[in-house]
Amino acid sequence: MTDVTHSSPTCTLVQLTDLHIVAADEEHPSGVDTAAVLQQALQAVEDAAIRPAALVLTGDLTEHGRPAQYDRLRAIVEPVAARVGAPLVYAAGNHDERAALRRHLLGTPPSAAPLDHVTRVGDLRIVVLDSTVPGHAHGGLTPEQLEWLRAELADPAPAGTVLALHHPPLPSAAPLAAAIPLLRRAELADAVAGTDVRLVLAGHTHVVSAGTLGGVPVWTGGPLATTLDPFAPGATLHGLATPSVSRIDLFPDDLITTSVPIGALRVSEVPAQTMEPALAAFRAAAAIG
Ligand SMILES: [Fe+2]
Ligand SMILES: [Fe+2]
Repeated sequence: MTDVTHSSPTCTLVQLTDLHIVAADEEHPSGVDTAAVLQQALQAVEDAAIRPAALVLTGDLTEHGRPAQYDRLRAIVEPVAARVGAPLVYAAGNHDERAALRRHLLGTPPSAAPLDHVTRVGDLRIVVLDSTVPGHAHGGLTPEQLEWLRAELADPAPAGTVLALHHPPLPSAAPLAAAIPLLRRAELADAVAGTDVRLVLAGHTHVVSAGTLGGVPVWTGGPLATTLDPFAPGATLHGLATPSVSRIDLFPDDLITTSVPIGALRVSEVPAQTMEPALAAFRAAAAIG
């Protein structure tokens, strides 16, 4: 195994999920200015000392799937992606609408077909599955989609595959998320078993959580819109203002997913010139060069 303590990742992805963007003349039901939160998150990405290989947006891109909402999202995201030099990889969520997403966000002909696609970033493959079931909040994958996935995964990528979809193939600790799950997740586990899929990336539940799908790590990234409190009693819904994005660092034989808070209060700062000698001393003591 690669020792992550002294090797650099070969690839870093940034995941943004559950943006729930509304049009400029609309307000999100929570009262949160979701476009402003997205802009804050993108500024943090741009300011970070990383060059993400891709920005992966795992669904619920908009609140209602309306053209004006996609137009606004596109106008916010595309200039930043161009500046950081990272491709945008989009998955659809249950709040999205396939035809409007295609026409107004991707600039491709509108179609109601599932938005399944593949992006290669260097040696890494990112496979996106459309887990939405039009007209419903829960998720599902058709036999045709699973067949397409099996065919795609039959040919491994040099650095493996990250599989992105909106609905996490996991149980849930929160009653709302548990009521709108990905159905028949065992079928997805079967399609992924024995392939080069290293990580499943999802969103949808509005909490940060991790699990496994047949032994493959599953990461549910935290939302940019309201976070749900998993300790809220019973069916009570508590919305929290704790937006986050995720960074996914891939090493040759290892990976780590990290939740990054957005807009959190900074309570301390130690300058790099102070930290660097301290880190060097720690590394020397641990004999990690
Ligand atoms: Fe959502
Ligand atoms: Fe969702």
